[in-house]
This record gives sequence, structure tokens and C-alpha cells, in this order.
Amino acid sequence: MTKQRIIQVGSLSGSPSANQRLSSGYDVFELWKHGDRKAALAEHGKGITAMVTSASVGANAELINALPDLKAICSWGVGYETIDVNAARERGILVSNTPDVLTDCVADLAWGLMIAGARRMSLGDRFVRAGRWGQIHGSIPLGTRVSGKKLGIVGLGRIGQAIARRGDGFDMQVRYHNRRARTDVPYGYEGSLVDLATWADFLIVATVGGPETRHLINKQVIEALGPKGVIVNIARGPVIDEQALTAALEAGKLGSAALDVFEFEPKVPEALIDSDNTVLLPHIGSATFETRLAMEDLMLENLASYFQNGKLVTPVE
Ligand code: 8YV
Repeated sequence: MTKQRIIQVGSLSGSPSANQRLSSGYDVFELWKHGDRKAALAEHGKGITAMVTSASVGANAELINALPDLKAICSWGVGYETIDVNAARERGILVSNTPDVLTDCVADLAWGLMIAGARRMSLGDRFVRAGRWGQIHGSIPLGTRVSGKKLGIVGLGRIGQAIARRGDGFDMQVRYHNRRARTDVPYGYEGSLVDLATWADFLIVATVGGPETRHLINKQVIEALGPKGVIVNIARGPVIDEQALTAALEAGKLGSAALDVFEFEPKVPEALIDSDNTVLLPHIGSATFETRLAMEDLMLENLASYFQNGKLVTPVE
């Protein structure tokens, strides 16, 4: 049987077996291997009806429009702000992502970061590795208690709710800010982000990315969280104004920042690297074997479904 031809925009090397499963099941045009994308697309683009991409690589209008026969975009990842969904919609192209399967791992990491930030785990780790433990009275500065405190969540979607549920186990009060109040959750709603940050001891950013949420967490919000506050970001880097964050940390107006995502990934500002009050991770929210495998399963399910019946299993709205 001849294999269906697809275009794969970037390598999915962060997934256990996505690259292999794609190349054994499909005739793959591997765009990332071509230095001159434009020429490669002009030469190989015609006739291709399905694309595989990821949340980080995305698909802009130029790429979508360079594929005259495209009908479906199947992305590996839940965020799709890097995919020009409007350009796709205009041409009737379907788009799918991989929701739900990564919710728990991202929520787990948010909690790991919050505790690491509050309890200065990165600093303690560096302290031990540097061989400084054992000096007389040598210790790191005291951290902040997590249990029983106030947790503010920015964005109460699937991941935000999973983060909130975990608050029960730590006897925390949970409040949230969202575009609009939800009627299906037991947590208090704050219409103003500054009010949420003023109330909270910990603020976890779990909102979608894209132009509507860029710099939602600005100087005022950061300073409202205050010198003892801990901010966690497992969403998208640009949601936080990174310059304002750095300035607040340097001025002691924010306690600490525990971040999995950055405004200009993979660039991380020196000031964050040098700070004792940061925990920094290389965007690993979904990066467990189980979750990455579930993401590739779902992406492949969408792709197979498109070729079987022209429909996607988890289309983006
Ligand atoms: C991915 C993510 O690891 O799903 C998302 O939106 O940010 C991560 O889970 C990564 O971005 C895939 O490209």
C-alpha cells in the first residue's frame, strides 16, 4: 500500500517515538531538513493535504499558504498560538492539538516549581554541590511555608483547574482570575489581576499564550504580589513582562520566580540566571515519557482520522 504523503514542519525529537512512527506510517516531507524552505515548499508542497507540527514550531500564514492543497494541521502540543488558526480557517483547513493528555504533568510541574521557589530548592542544591554545606552555621536563607497559604491562579482552564485541585492536599485557599468567572468551580473569582496578586502568597500563571495575554503580568501585578510572593509560570513566557519581573526581583519587590517558560526562549536573561531567587527550567511542563507518548498517540490519532474520514479527533475551536 502506498503511504499517504504529509509534511512535518519540525523534528519531534522530544517525543519518545513520534519521528519513527511518522516515517514508518507516512511518506514524510521533512521540512526542517531543508535549508531553503521556500524552494523546498515550491518543489514538494503541491499535493500535500496534511501537516504535522508542534506547539513550539507552529505554522504561520506563509507556510500554510505555501501548501495549496492543505486540509489538516495536526499539532503535537496543547498551545496553538504559534499556528495561524485564522489563516487555516479562511481556507477551511482543520487544526488539531493534544489537550487533556498533558494536563496532569504540567500541573505537577507547576507545584514542583512553586515548592522549589518557596523553599529555595535550587539555591539549596547549588549550595550542596558547591561543597558549602558543613561550614560552621553555613546555611541558605529561610524559605516560605507553602501549606495553608493563599494560591492565586491566572487562567482557570484545564491545567489551571488541575493546579487548583492539588491545593486541597496542601490546605490552601485558592482564588483565580480568568477572562470570565466560571460557574462550575468552588474557587473565588477575582476580576482584577492586581487584586488577585495582592491577596495571594503564590501566583501561578496557567493561561493561554498569544497577543491577548502578552504582558498580562505587568509591573503592577508583580509588585502587588510583593517581596514575599512567589510567581510561577508554566504557561507561555510572554504572558509575564520579563523586564518588569527582573527589575522587581533585583529591587526586592518580588520574593521569587519559578519559571518553566521565558519571553524569548531559549534565551534566559542573565539577571534571572544570576539571581538566588529564581528556579529556572527549560520548558519541560509536558516532558515525561508517559505524557509525551500520549501526546504523540493523540497527534497520530488525529492524523489517521483525517485520512480515514476527513475529521479530526481533537479539533481546536
Ligand atoms: C510542548 C507545550 O512540550 O503543549 C504545549 O503547548 O508547550 C509543551 O507541552 C512543546 O511546546 C511542544 O512543542
